[in-house]
Parts: sequence; structure tokens; C-alpha cells
Amino acid sequence: MNKEDILYWLKDASESELDLLWQKAHEETVEYAGNEVHLRGLIEISNHCKRGCTYCGINRSMKKLKRYRMSADEIMSCAYNALELGYGTVVMQAGEDAGVKKEFIEDIIKRIKDETGLAVTLSLGMRPEDELTAWKNAGADRYLLRFETSDRQLFDTIHPEPGKDLPSRLELLRSMKSMGYETGSGVMIGIPGQSWSSVADDILMFRELDLDMIGLGPYLPHPETELGHMDAEMHKADEIKSDELTVCRVLALARIVCPWANIPATTALEVQSGTAGRSHGLMRGANVIMPNLTPAEYRVLYDIYPHKGDCMDPVLFDKYIKELIASLDKKPGQGKGGRNRVI
Ligand code: 5AD
Repeated sequence: MNKEDILYWLKDASESELDLLWQKAHEETVEYAGNEVHLRGLIEISNHCKRGCTYCGINRSMKKLKRYRMSADEIMSCAYNALELGYGTVVMQAGEDAGVKKEFIEDIIKRIKDETGLAVTLSLGMRPEDELTAWKNAGADRYLLRFETSDRQLFDTIHPEPGKDLPSRLELLRSMKSMGYETGSGVMIGIPGQSWSSVADDILMFRELDLDMIGLGPYLPHPETELGHMDAEMHKADEIKSDELTVCRVLALARIVCPWANIPATTALEVQSGTAGRSHGLMRGANVIMPNLTPAEYRVLYDIYPHKGDCMDPVLFDKYIKELIASLDKKPGQGKGGRNRVI
């Protein structure tokens, strides 16, 4: 697909034509991932953040937010929960927190690998290369770092930080690949000021980066953030929408351009559109779910967008999601569930 084709399916194709897009995306999903849906246990290990991303509810200027950092034992207890529920991977995510030290993560990766054998994904922001290398050597398998938008100007507007521009993030993603990480990235859809054309470029960027994992969801305004306030002022005439159908179009196109990728039906999609959002996601290109295993007391503080922490407790969610997976004639994935190949 070239940019023109992508833009057509993104913006112009009518709802009745979209069945073709869903069908193609689902065919590719089945060809590469079968009918398995991999479950990755998400552990939000710290909500401290030194960055000022204007859309994010845990950015450094959220002075009222109570901050936490989980202990190694607390993290291990979540990893054991993942193991018991039959998941193949844990994802450790945090704000960009210098208080989460290189050695702490090295030790916890080793413990998780030794004691549980689970695959380990990290999502800890833009960290120095020596730390990324140390964590790879300790046994980490994958790293997630969204580029959020491929529009340089919009990127700079929502990440007002000198030296932390889009090219440096893309370069870091490329370094992660060369270090041997399975590398994931992605975007938000419907950021104020985001054009249809830039999202078509985002999709082409997924392919250019040869991503192993792609995470995308709607932008959900957080009322306490700068962008959440300014919302109305920034709108452009050709701005992309953030509704469920638009997000599904992006998801399906991501699957078609990178059929090998692991793509979650994200929590943001479910927060926006409920169970229908998740099941549409799983039938339109997604093959991964990331159940939240963060202890309830911390989950509510990992407030990147409204209602993020409202999700069910792990055991209840597990039952709910496995029923949903079965209702779609799919089954929970076995094993670590790395990058897919034609099966
Ligand atoms: N709405 C939707 N997604 C958000 N994220 C951060 N803030 C928001 C928001 N307000 C996403 C970003 C980030 C990921 C962890 O959460 O894409 O990379």
C-alpha cells in the first residue's frame, strides 16, 4: 500500500466498503498469528515522570498526583500472578523515572526470568543506551516506546522538551532493534492538530521501522493536562477524528502493512468504546491483550488518561477477557508470542 491507498482507507472509504478492509486485516492476522490472542500482564511499576508531555496525566507538572514506585517484591508478586493466569509475558511500564535505576531493573529482569521463565517487555521511556544494553544482557526481550506522531511539528508541540525531538526518538527505536530487542512503537489517534495525512505517514513509519509490535489507541483528553484544557483551540480543518471507527481503520491498516507485528487491542480503545471496542479490535487486526496486573492501590494513580485505572481486578478481568476471546472463536496464546511468521 502506498500513501494514497492508505489515505483512501483511512478517510474516504465509506462504512459499507470498510468490510473489505476488516476482512483483509483479519485474514492477515490469521495468516500470521492464527486464532491465538496473546495475553501480556502489564505491571505499572512507577508513576514518577520527569517529562512534560502535554497530553499525559502523569507528567511532571501534575503536582496533585500521589506518586509511587513499586518494590521488587511487589513486582515479583505481579509476575507470579501472570504466571498463574497462564500469560507468557510481563510488561513493566513506568513514567520516565530516573529513580527507577539501571541495577534495580537488571535485578528484577533476572529474577523474573530465573523464577518464572516469562518473556519480559520494558516500557520505561527514553533511557540511555548503556541502560538499554544492560537490560538486554540481563534477559529483557522487548521494548515499547511509542513515537506518538510522525508529524515533527506536532511532536514538538506536545513534547515541549529541548533535545528530545522526534528524530532522537526514532534513532533510539532503531538502536533498540540493533541491540536485539523486539521493538514496539505506536501512536495516539485524534491528537488536537493531527492531520489525516500525518497518520497515513505514521502507518508508513511503522513499516519503515520494521516494528515487531504496534500499539495504538484514541487520544483521550485528560482534563488536568495542558492539552486537555487547550483542546478546542488547536483544531485544524483536516484534523483526524479519534472515534472508534477511525482507530479501527488505523489498526487494520497497521496489520496490513506490518502483518508480522503483534498488535494489542488497547485499554484506551476499551475505555473509549467498551467491550465492543475490544472485540472490534480483535477482529480488525489486533492479536494481543494487555491485562493490567498492577495492584489496585497503584493502578488508580497511573492516571495517564481518565478511567485508565477503572479496570477490573486481574482475576475477574482474566475471566472476562478469556470469555470474550472464546466468543470470537479465538483462544489464548501459548508461549512467549514473539514476532509472528507466516504459519
Ligand atoms: N490519551 C490516550 N493515550 C495516552 N497516552 C498517554 N496519554 C494519553 C492520553 N491522554 C499513551 C501514550 C503513551 C502510552 C503509555 O499512553 O501513547 O505512549
